[in-house]
Amino acid sequence: MRLVKRIAQLRKTIISAKRRGKKIGLVPTMGYLHEGHLSLVRLARRKCDFLVVSIFVNPAQFGAKEDLKKYPRDLSRDLKLLKKEKVDLVFNPLAREMYRDGHQTYVEVVDWSKLMCGASRPIHFRGVTTVVLKLFNTIEPDLAVFGSKDYQQAVIIKKMVKDLDLRVKIVTGKIVREKDGLAMSSRNKYLSKVQRKNAVVLYNSLKWSRRAYIEGLRDPKLAVNKMASMIKEKQGKIDYIALVDKNTLEPVKKLRKGTLVALAVFFGKTRLIDNTTL
Ligand code: PAJ
Repeated sequence: MRLVKRIAQLRKTIISAKRRGKKIGLVPTMGYLHEGHLSLVRLARRKCDFLVVSIFVNPAQFGAKEDLKKYPRDLSRDLKLLKKEKVDLVFNPLAREMYRDGHQTYVEVVDWSKLMCGASRPIHFRGVTTVVLKLFNTIEPDLAVFGSKDYQQAVIIKKMVKDLDLRVKIVTGKIVREKDGLAMSSRNKYLSKVQRKNAVVLYNSLKWSRRAYIEGLRDPKLAVNKMASMIKEKQGKIDYIALVDKNTLEPVKKLRKGTLVALAVFFGKTRLIDNTTL
């Protein structure tokens, strides 16, 4: 497994792999890897010949008051984990390699980046699409894998690929959860013991919505109210609970099969997201 820090060196290695007829796969991450990330790596490994994993805590997707500085990092542990998964190349650039002096070009999926997570994180998705497009441009992967834990992110990236006629195939992997149901996240590390216990309510509220739908509930407002009260009982501060069309992210008037139930909730200063489809 090669560790590459420079764009020029990355390009060279990829070109040579392509010349050898290799199908290139990419899994973009911000590191501090857990089983959720590794499930995507395994999925990508099965679908390509030359697998690139990027580890880059992308400043452009963090707001001024967000956790860029304290975002957890452990490169040597990440490298050990990726080596076990038979990754071919890890791309781990410095911020100044990705955003050279005077960087001023961004790509944005304008409408969908304002919805849901975008309402409280206005520059977030612009930062995500910009860095992902830069990775796509330098690596030109045949396929790239994203997790459905960040469901809105995956939808926005697919839209960018379609709108800009990119040649890459986007594959999504399932949400990997802890034993008690909490979705795995690098940010779970910020939670106190009590918050960690309380945070299971996110999964439980999503499970409740699925059961209620099966039992006949169709009114999104009733669903939001019940979920909100479950979450507040566990000291969660709700950023949003959205019941939306899973392809267009438009709020639904009536719950249907396939409706996306997505939420973002603060436990203390830690903002967690999760989702399910009905
Ligand atoms: P990061 O949060 O590190 O996540 C990297 C990938 O892992 C994303 O596609 C995310 O959806 C997926 N993932 C995270 N937790 C998961 C879980 N519990 N189960 C399944 N997949 C999970 O998302 C980002 O980084 C960044 O925004 C990035 C796309 C790398 C751009 O900077």
